[in-house]
Amino acid sequence: MRQYLIGLDIGTSGAKCILVDDLGTVVASSTQEYPLYTPRPGWAEQNPEDWWQAVAKGCQIILKQANLPKEAIKGVSFSGQMHGLVALDEGLNVIRPAILWCDQRTQPQCDALIAKAGGVEGLMRLTNNTMLSGYTGGKLIWLKENEPENYARMKTFCCPKDYIRLMITGEVATEVSDASGTGLFDTEKRAWSDGAIALAGLDKALFPVCMESSDLAGRVTEQAARVTGLPQGLPVYAGGGDAVIQTTGAGLVKPGIMGVVIGTAGNVAMGMDRFTPNPGGKLQMFCANGPKLWNALGVTLAAGGAYRWYRDALCEADLLEAKQRGTSVYSIMGDKAASSRPGSGGVVFLPYLSGERCPYADSNARGVFYGLSLATTRGDITRSVMEGVTFSLKQVADLMTQTVKAEKIYTSGGGSASPLWRQMQADIFNLPVYTMSAASEGGAYGAVMVAGVGAGVWKDLNEAISILRVETETLPNPANQAAYQDAFGIYTDLYGALKPVYDKAAK
Ligand code: XUL
Repeated sequence: MRQYLIGLDIGTSGAKCILVDDLGTVVASSTQEYPLYTPRPGWAEQNPEDWWQAVAKGCQIILKQANLPKEAIKGVSFSGQMHGLVALDEGLNVIRPAILWCDQRTQPQCDALIAKAGGVEGLMRLTNNTMLSGYTGGKLIWLKENEPENYARMKTFCCPKDYIRLMITGEVATEVSDASGTGLFDTEKRAWSDGAIALAGLDKALFPVCMESSDLAGRVTEQAARVTGLPQGLPVYAGGGDAVIQTTGAGLVKPGIMGVVIGTAGNVAMGMDRFTPNPGGKLQMFCANGPKLWNALGVTLAAGGAYRWYRDALCEADLLEAKQRGTSVYSIMGDKAASSRPGSGGVVFLPYLSGERCPYADSNARGVFYGLSLATTRGDITRSVMEGVTFSLKQVADLMTQTVKAEKIYTSGGGSASPLWRQMQADIFNLPVYTMSAASEGGAYGAVMVAGVGAGVWKDLNEAISILRVETETLPNPANQAAYQDAFGIYTDLYGALKPVYDKAAK
């Protein structure tokens, strides 16, 4: 008899619930949206109750769609937007709206903490990470300083997906990947960092129990069964933060496979089988979803988002042509880009449209087209946008491969749908590039895998990822590499040359 698992992803725009069989087939799926509130510019909050309503509805829908006997379902687990602060009182009730990963209010708290640690290196000795403004740690300090009455009422806290687990099991806990994303976690020892917590001036008693992702975290209560339709008593496993568990779902469990996502933002990730130093604190080095696994991640802010910006700002004629021909604007842009050559006829694009996070943490950086001449064509400019994004990803990859060699790339996200962009990745990274099944399922698929490992459907994550299938393979073309290397050299020099200009213009 087939065995089934449920993955719940508490995202920023909605909750995705999937039901998957032990061959990896998605049998039922539902996404329920909820609002995001910005009570002040730069703030981002959500109501945990909205997440719960969305999950309850999504579970009802997928269970109805699949219509399975209860015994066939072996477990449920979670993925969730990372870093969000859900503050809970004595009775485990929510004290205030959750403060999200994309909320910008805590920069002063983060700067003060880094200074107190004697700089980023001091913090890295405790956690192997710097304190980014998105992380939970800065939010806890902000609450203490700005809402002392709420801080005094807070008995514990958790991250978004942990709140849903609390609603399902009645028990509060977090797990190692989201704990890493607080910035207050000793990622080498896989335990809260007493040193970082003390430095932040926080009370250790607030910090919840921390599990491994496939640990049994409780069972579906009678009340939760009534609201969600999940079988009462179904085993519930701890789960993981989305940025980490989506790499697990994409098969990035062993070192050597590099994940490259070209979504709105871009990221490069790798699963590590040992604790690995974080070069200059530039990467996010978090615990991953198996007991001896870690995850290295670097985010470049504008990837597919830069290409979309280019489409909207400068490709009016292509948009019109696409409409007239009833075809996709991206296929017209792709044809134009393909008519240019590697190196885009000397045009180099810097994709820093919203500043940058990695490889340079620089909010002053801005986008640039360099190298325009009378010979430049539209194809050159279009292609240069794709190349610039890929060069930025290559710089992140170079940070990662300082310690671990990459043998192949698994790519996903909207940009990976373009064969030209896949070939460009293969040529610029000089590695074979693959797209894999289920990549579009994101974190929910990783949640299914950790539930399956917890429930004994698979022995470990290495066995779990064997359900993934290769969909496309793209091999590097040696004939293209010299042109890309030259362009990459100019791309790299441009940031250094422009840095003083960026800083001057920002004043
Ligand atoms: C990871 C991060 C985002 C959120 C959004 O560090 O900030 O990926 O988890 O889902």
